[in-house]
Amino acid sequence: MTPPRILRGRLLSFNRRPLSISDTESYVYEDDGGLLISGGRILAFGPFETILLDAPEGAEIVDHRPNLILPGLIDTHLHFPQMQVVGSYAANLLEWLNTYTFVEEQRFADPAHGARIAVSFFDEMIRQGTTTAVAYCSVHKASADAYFAEASKRNMLMLGGKVLMDCNAPEVLTDTPQSAYDDTKAVIADWHGKARNHVVISPRFALTSSHEQMEVTGALAREFPDLHIQTHLSENTAEIERALELYPEAQDYTDIYARYDLLGAKTLLGHAIHLSERERDVLNETGAVAVHCPTSNLFLGSGLFPFKDYETREKPVRIAVATDIGGGTSYSMLKTMDEAYKIQQLRGERLNPLESFFAMTLGNAEALSLADRIGTLDPDSDADLVVLDARATPAMALKMDAVSTLAEELFLLQTMGDDRAIAETYVAGNPVKSGL
Ligand code: GUN
Ligand code: FE
Repeated sequence: MTPPRILRGRLLSFNRRPLSISDTESYVYEDDGGLLISGGRILAFGPFETILLDAPEGAEIVDHRPNLILPGLIDTHLHFPQMQVVGSYAANLLEWLNTYTFVEEQRFADPAHGARIAVSFFDEMIRQGTTTAVAYCSVHKASADAYFAEASKRNMLMLGGKVLMDCNAPEVLTDTPQSAYDDTKAVIADWHGKARNHVVISPRFALTSSHEQMEVTGALAREFPDLHIQTHLSENTAEIERALELYPEAQDYTDIYARYDLLGAKTLLGHAIHLSERERDVLNETGAVAVHCPTSNLFLGSGLFPFKDYETREKPVRIAVATDIGGGTSYSMLKTMDEAYKIQQLRGERLNPLESFFAMTLGNAEALSLADRIGTLDPDSDADLVVLDARATPAMALKMDAVSTLAEELFLLQTMGDDRAIAETYVAGNPVKSGL
């Protein structure tokens, strides 16, 4: 086991959603902070001098000043088999899926291909300061095996699942209701609860699952009530029309999933852009989470996510944020929030930088029901951390000379930052980015 370490730097950790840019009660900030970590956990958080006094003898001191130390960033929706789909030229979601994505994902039938991409995938997560992610694998069980094998090797807290899809896609990229059930159960048996892995029941979306497969998905959800469920909802208007043609008995798109018992507090609904008031109420009542994927929504022209409407309505909708690689165009959660900000600008709303950094950390941890483990610097949390350098490039450094508040610095990191601003990434207490 590695010896205890004290990380010295400017510590920032949220304790709840910031209500405004001046909501200083929503976070804890230590200008000269110390974080004592050992055995993969955070043991203590406070002023450096205090932490030093109480630290065990022989603790190694790592000085990250003047950089910020935050909980590791969390990406709540992306596609492991789409690293080579990023930046594919298409008019809209359905063209993009059929022309590129359903072709590329076929390559993951080959376990060797999956194993090779998994190395690149986790290297990229670490490069971007993302310490937890929720991924769709491909339809092939082998892709989930590759994903979780690599996650286990790196001891990262990762969520993911084999995609369930049995229709409206190339034959070679489909399973059947029975094989989807059997393979998902096998992935659960092989990986769930091993290392830091969480298996997610992952029906792709209503268009690619038959009624029979939806039944099976509901059965899995009832059999494994503790597991997360992820799918896509109301991303694109043509998609919505098609979903309602396939499921004419449903009141609306959300109702398709409700009919199969798929909506609950551990359900992650990718996109969820074009929801009626009724559907928003259903999300509120079930606790299902709308996962906002801003770079993807802009790239595919899907729509402008009504972030503030969801957040401030009488029955609020839970929101998470994510990259949606390969519909999304950046692996960076900083860039993701930059684009989220711009989408709200186009809607005449504002997303303040405190809220953005809350969203990438504690907000996403709460959306995953994992805030007891990740998303804060609270003692007993897992020591998954990101070290942020707001002077990472000459242009950022120049702008930093004109910055005087923490909120301004965060906004600069979000607006100009990317993987270059990630000075270090810690996974379970170990620095991993510098070793790449
Ligand atoms: N809807 C169904 N599958 C996908 C996917 O792979 N990416 C996106 N953005 N939307 C989807
Ligand atoms: Fe997606």
